[in-house]
Amino acid sequence: MRVSPDSVGRPVTGPAERIGTGLHLALLIEEGRGEWHARRIVRAVEAMGARMTVSSLPHCAFDTGLKCGIDIPGFKGELPDGIFVRSISAGTLEQITFRLGLLHALRESGVRVWNDARAIERCVDKSQTTFLLHKNGIPTPRTRVCETEEHAREYTADLARTLVMKPLFGSQGKGIGQITSQAELPAGESVDHIYYMQDFVAPADDVFEDWRVLATRHRIVASMTRRGKTWVTNIHQGAAARTHTPDSEMAAISMAAMRAVDADYAGIDLIRTAKGELQVLEVNSNPAWRGLQSVADINIAEAIAEDFLKTVIAHRAHLRSVP
Ligand SMILES: Nc1ncnc2c1ncn2[C@@H]1O[C@H](COP(=O)(O)OP(=O)(O)O)[C@@H](O)[C@H]1O
Ligand SMILES: [Mg+2]
Repeated sequence: MRVSPDSVGRPVTGPAERIGTGLHLALLIEEGRGEWHARRIVRAVEAMGARMTVSSLPHCAFDTGLKCGIDIPGFKGELPDGIFVRSISAGTLEQITFRLGLLHALRESGVRVWNDARAIERCVDKSQTTFLLHKNGIPTPRTRVCETEEHAREYTADLARTLVMKPLFGSQGKGIGQITSQAELPAGESVDHIYYMQDFVAPADDVFEDWRVLATRHRIVASMTRRGKTWVTNIHQGAAARTHTPDSEMAAISMAAMRAVDADYAGIDLIRTAKGELQVLEVNSNPAWRGLQSVADINIAEAIAEDFLKTVIAHRAHLRSVP
C-alpha cells in the first residue's frame, strides 16, 4: 500500500488482481441518474472479483423488522461488506439528515463506508472544511463565515479588497460571486442567511487557473490544470482542462487537506497566489472525475476501485482481529 504524498498514480496495466473475490458491495449513486462514473466503478470492482449492487440512499430504509435494522436494496436484510458513496442525492434538510443518519448507522454497524458520513459532512459544509484546513495549518485564503447581514456588514465596512462569496453547500462554481464594497453585499435571503466571505486570490498576469487533484488515502490518482475565461474555473463553467503532474509540494498539501477532513478519497481544489504560494480552496468528498479522465493517463475508476477494495479488505481483517 503506497502512502507517500508524491506517489502519483500510475496506469493500471494488465489483468486486475481478483482481490475482491467473495465481497458483496454497494454503490450509492444519485437517484434517477444513469451514471457514467457508476458504470466504470462497477466494471472495475467486478474485474477484481467482487459483486457490486447499485442503489441510491433514497431507496434505503431503517427497519426494526430486520436484525441489522437497515435495508439496502439487493442485500436481503444483510449488510454489505463495504459501501462506495458516489452521491447522497439532492433533498430536503430532513432527507439529507436521514440519509447521513443511515451512513452513520452503517459505519457504527461495522460497514466500511467510503467516504464516511463525517467526511461528507465536513466537505459539504464549506465553512467546516475551511476551519479544518486552517486548524491543520494548511494554507487557505482568509475566510469569515457568519450569519446575519449586520454581522457581514461589520466585516465589510471599509473593505479595501475583493471578497469571494460562496454558497455554503455550493458546487460546480454555481452561485459564486465577488464583492469589492459593503454596498455590494447580497441580502440575507439570497445567501440563505449564511455569509461565506473569502479573500479573492487575484491571478498573476490575468490568467485564471487553478488545479484539481484527485486523491485517495493511498495515492494521488490524477490532477489537472483548469483554465477559465473568467475567474470561476470549474469545468462546469466552461474552463478547459489540461493534464498536470503535481509537484511534491502540491501533492503533500493535497494529501494533508484530505486528511484534515479525514476523507478516503477527495477532489482537492488549489490555487496559486501571485506570489507563488499554493492555497487550498476546497475539498470535495464526492468528486466527479469525467473532466479529469479526459486528460488523465490513468484509468481513474480502476485506481479508485482498487484503493476502495483494499480499504474494505483491511477493515474486515481488522474487525476479525478484534476479539
Ligand atoms: N478565494 C478565491 N480566489 C480566487 N478564485 C476562487 C476563490 N474561491 C473560488 N475561486 C474560483 O471559483 C471556483 C469554485 O470555487 P470552489 O470553492 O471550488 O467552489 P465549488 O464547490 O463551487 O467548486 C474555483 O475553482 C476557483 O476557480
Ligand atoms: Mg470546486
